[in-house]
Amino acid sequence: MAGKRILSGIQPSGTLHIGNYFGMMRQAIALQNRGDDCYYFIANYHAMTSMPEPEALRERSFGVAVDFLAAGLDPEKSVFFRQSDVPEVLELTWILSCLCPMGLLERCHSYKDKLAHGMEANHGLFAYPALMAADILLYNSHLVPVGKDQKQHLEVTRDLAIRFNNHFGEILTIPDAYIHEDVAVIPGLDGQKMSKSYNNTIELYGEGKAIRKKFMSIVTDSTPMGEPMDPDRCSIVALYKLMASEEELEELRKNYRENPEFGYGHAKQKLYEKYLEYFAPMRERRAKLLANPQLVEDILQDGARRARLVARATMEKVRNAVGL
Ligand code: ADP
Ligand code: TRP
Repeated sequence: MAGKRILSGIQPSGTLHIGNYFGMMRQAIALQNRGDDCYYFIANYHAMTSMPEPEALRERSFGVAVDFLAAGLDPEKSVFFRQSDVPEVLELTWILSCLCPMGLLERCHSYKDKLAHGMEANHGLFAYPALMAADILLYNSHLVPVGKDQKQHLEVTRDLAIRFNNHFGEILTIPDAYIHEDVAVIPGLDGQKMSKSYNNTIELYGEGKAIRKKFMSIVTDSTPMGEPMDPDRCSIVALYKLMASEEELEELRKNYRENPEFGYGHAKQKLYEKYLEYFAPMRERRAKLLANPQLVEDILQDGARRARLVARATMEKVRNAVGL
């Protein structure tokens, strides 16, 4: 697969959680190490759909950049930038919007879900898949690593690219989603999909008593102590599996089935310790980056400069093709 253009974005709409890491960031980081041509960005225009305060938007965009770099994104290997530093994407959004039937957007689950969770229906939130399509198509992306919840947005993107090409000529690259089925949906504290909108997250860089308390609050069934527990239907095991070795996982599963002195409290403690160990190197890198904000800003600026070269070349072809 070497030599493909890989692209993904993450919204700076809150603190990153381990669902974001295992669902998307880890794949994105692994791909940069295979010699692919990777573009990753902070989707700050997207985050405006929930209308954060200006200072919060700026700070979170920066914070997510730090967190992604700390997680292993390497700016020597990947082009890393803030979405709004390449405003060409908005021109492409408009052009795609004019090709986009209302029905295509009306069918999007993510929009309906967000309304069901109390978000206000604004035009930006409704039209968001067109902006996401522009993000992807502007950079001629082949593969888009995302969690399963974004699959439908990738289908919208492909549909718009095909419509564009049919109408104006073969200009846009048709992308594919890259979804790791093993980690398609990471469960949250309550067993539903982990999401910042559901208040059930384990933060990527959580600290102190508060984070331990979260682990201890993971919902399990009510198998009494001494009875065998079912490892196949337990969020603790599902989360442990993401971080532990095969042997460690097998040991936990054995304890579930066979150890009468092992209860959910022990399992939660094991998971908590594994989490601290797994993310320790990233925490260290994060502390260093936080102490050097100028370095982070320079990385983002350099990324934007490189991204903009590709964006401008695509827009020149697109503008020409549509008659602008
Ligand atoms: P949230 O649902 O917390 O708002 P985002 O929608 O910002 O998260 O997701 C950012 C990225 O992380 C997306 O690629 C998304 O698919 C992935 N992701 C988020 N939550 C999960 C999860 N629980 N399981 C798998 N992937 C996830
Ligand atoms: N919509 C994605 C999310 O909420 C973020 C995103 C915006 C994105 N533009 C993108 C992901 C382009 C992949 C490619 O998670």
